Amino acid sequence: MKNRSLVSINDYSKEEYLKILDIAEEFEKNPKQKILENFVIATLFFEPSTRTRLSFESAVNQLGGKVIGFTDAASSSVKKGESLRDTIKTVANYSDLIVMRHPLEGSARFASEVSSVPIINAGDGANQHPTQCLLDLYSIRKTQGKLDNLHIAFVGDLKYGRTVHSNVIALTNFNCTFHFVSPGELKLPSAVKRHIKERNLEYYQYTDLNEVIPFVDILYMTRIQRERFSDPVEYEKVKNAYILNGNMLGNCKPNLKVLHPLPRVNEINENVDDMKEAYYFQQARNGVYVRQALMASILGIK
Ligand code: CP
Repeated sequence: MKNRSLVSINDYSKEEYLKILDIAEEFEKNPKQKILENFVIATLFFEPSTRTRLSFESAVNQLGGKVIGFTDAASSSVKKGESLRDTIKTVANYSDLIVMRHPLEGSARFASEVSSVPIINAGDGANQHPTQCLLDLYSIRKTQGKLDNLHIAFVGDLKYGRTVHSNVIALTNFNCTFHFVSPGELKLPSAVKRHIKERNLEYYQYTDLNEVIPFVDILYMTRIQRERFSDPVEYEKVKNAYILNGNMLGNCKPNLKVLHPLPRVNEINENVDDMKEAYYFQQARNGVYVRQALMASILGIK
């Protein structure tokens, strides 16, 4: 993985995912190794973020590295009309690695083509969120003891939810069975379903969340992505399509874990938070270790 960008989860192999997860386990035991003291990481966030940006920055700080960047393109020379190409070529002069979130699909791939340092895609529009995917794989393996042969339900906005796209593609390496719960207008894109068909795996589609709860191992809830809708009326129609309540988990499997990339709006009631099935805040914590492992691998330290 040394010097390689991570733009799409397809850029890395199954073996490479597993290597990152193994290194992340080491960082979870000892997250404060001073191995990035000679490195500068740039975090360029053209879209809002809490977990992704702060977990990357926490990961770098705990490893002794330095962070530069911006949290809002309006505070950069983009505001004066500078192109993404020129921004990336400039920041590559100041850093060893660039972490970028951008609203345009394909922007991270473009950045990787013009940059002299590796790019990590921290989310490009509705396309992909590969580092969220890696921390989700870590969370699934940690809670289930394996990644293979699981029944996984993805619930909510499967059309615009970039974490779902990356997760489904990655999990096709692990013989999982997929259960997709969404309103009709927010179904998983065909291009993502194609990955499942190519591996001869099974997927099922539902509109009722209650149908899948009794038999799945992972219930992956997602937010309806208001910012991706061009028509606010369409968002209003589906915004509360799925709300998970604690009393809905009465007949779930004993190993079920509820995951969510967060932020949530109201798709998981707070009465779930203290149940043994809730794992989303630990999931966000795992992001630090996985991002430490990824950066250390790309920088050639691990
Ligand atoms: N999961 C995730 O990408 O969260 P943020 O938008 O807060 O970074």
